[in-house]
Amino acid sequence: MSSTSGNFWKFLVIFGVYAVVILTFWQFFYSADFLSKFLQLSGPSEFSVPRKNVTIYVATTYYGDPIDAEMAFLTCPELKKFCRVTRNFSEASTSDALLFHSRNFFEAVKILPNLKKLRKPNVPWILWNIESPSHEQLPTEKNLFNWTMTYRRDADLWAPYGYMEKMDVPAKIDVNSIWSLKTKTATWLGSNCNTPNNRIQLIGKMIQKGLEADVWGACGAPPGACMGVQKRTEPCVRELIEPYKFYLALENSNCVDYVTEKFWKSLGDRMAVPIVLQREVVRQLGVPDPAYISVDDFQNLEEFVDFVEKVGSEKDFYLKFHEWRKDYRVIFDNGFSGWCRLCERLQDENLILENRKFYKNANENWQAAGVCNNSIGMKYLI
Ligand SMILES: *[C@@H]1O[C@H](CO)[C@@H](O)[C@H](O)[C@H]1NC(C)=O
Ligand SMILES: *[C@@H]1O[C@H](CO)[C@@H](O)[C@H](O)[C@H]1NC(C)=O
Ligand SMILES: *[C@@H]1O[C@H](CO)[C@@H](O)[C@H](O)[C@H]1NC(C)=O
Ligand SMILES: *[C@@H]1O[C@H](CO)[C@@H](O)[C@H](O)[C@H]1NC(C)=O
Repeated sequence: MSSTSGNFWKFLVIFGVYAVVILTFWQFFYSADFLSKFLQLSGPSEFSVPRKNVTIYVATTYYGDPIDAEMAFLTCPELKKFCRVTRNFSEASTSDALLFHSRNFFEAVKILPNLKKLRKPNVPWILWNIESPSHEQLPTEKNLFNWTMTYRRDADLWAPYGYMEKMDVPAKIDVNSIWSLKTKTATWLGSNCNTPNNRIQLIGKMIQKGLEADVWGACGAPPGACMGVQKRTEPCVRELIEPYKFYLALENSNCVDYVTEKFWKSLGDRMAVPIVLQREVVRQLGVPDPAYISVDDFQNLEEFVDFVEKVGSEKDFYLKFHEWRKDYRVIFDNGFSGWCRLCERLQDENLILENRKFYKNANENWQAAGVCNNSIGMKYLI
């Protein structure tokens, strides 16, 4: 063998080894699947700095329930490895963030002077809230909070009740099977009968105009096994609602971005077509128009009821409202994904600095004029 052909073979072997190494590297590190497994994250993430452990001090409960990591990182349990939650006041001074749940802010008022004394500029104070401005005034204390965590898109940490995700590969769903589940027309299950937007009056008038609807809960018939708000997330609700073609997903107030579990749950696993009051509010959250019916598409309730009855009586027409299931899936987490975003942000010092801000009065923007309009439905009542 001449030395040139020896070099040739050497070259070929080295080239081959390199090619294998590079291809393997490519396949492992650049496939989204590997990256997400590597980072142990649910869904796509752009996390790029080394992980570090952080601690979040919670100064309040969540509607009386103590907040722990189990609850907070419900939708991203793998982040529990990096983000601790503590309720121990002695750890407040060494924590990486402080968090208050708005409705329970009163619980922290006593320790507030002490917390203020140990405040550090790079330790953000976060205000968490899931209620609408019609039902929740945020604490008005001056210069207290750095970030808000709410369902509103203008929150510093966005925590929507739910959202839709376009799938990379369309799902093989036989929408015909949905039709066979559906034996009844419309329903509503609720506990809050007196709302500023006259929700129950609107539903009453729909029924009066001929809509076949069963009302369950405090304002209607006892919902059997699903009695009580605690039971509302149980499988009994799915069983109760699934036979209905439509779910009256009217919110307790009509405010920007306020689309709650009623909508996302009926859209998702309960497989009912949601009926809302305002198309624009839902559209803004990225839900495709043909997934739901909106009252404000109609001049009056007669037209609305005729339309709903027509959709419900024609199989092909009705199933058009389920076609989206082939391209999207519904993510529902009652806003807990906000915690996942918080955990990630706290691990990256640059993200904290980039998001440096504070609210002179957090409630000013929250309850600004025009955010809620609870008279949207009034024109249908006169
Ligand atoms: C985070 O804390 C855990 C123990 O809870 C420890 O095993 C791990 O090494 C820590 N990670 C970092 C990046 O410090
Ligand atoms: C609270 O934290 C302090 C300081 O880390 C610790 O000494 C104490 O045992 C903790 N208390 C509880 C109840 O965990
Ligand atoms: C938090 O707000 C305070 C003022 O209320 C400010 O001094 C501090 O720089 C802010 N920190 C961050 C991380 O935004
Ligand atoms: C609320 O909505 C009603 C009906 O669409 C409209 O007439 C009214 O001007 C709105 N009010 C405000 C304050 O925007």
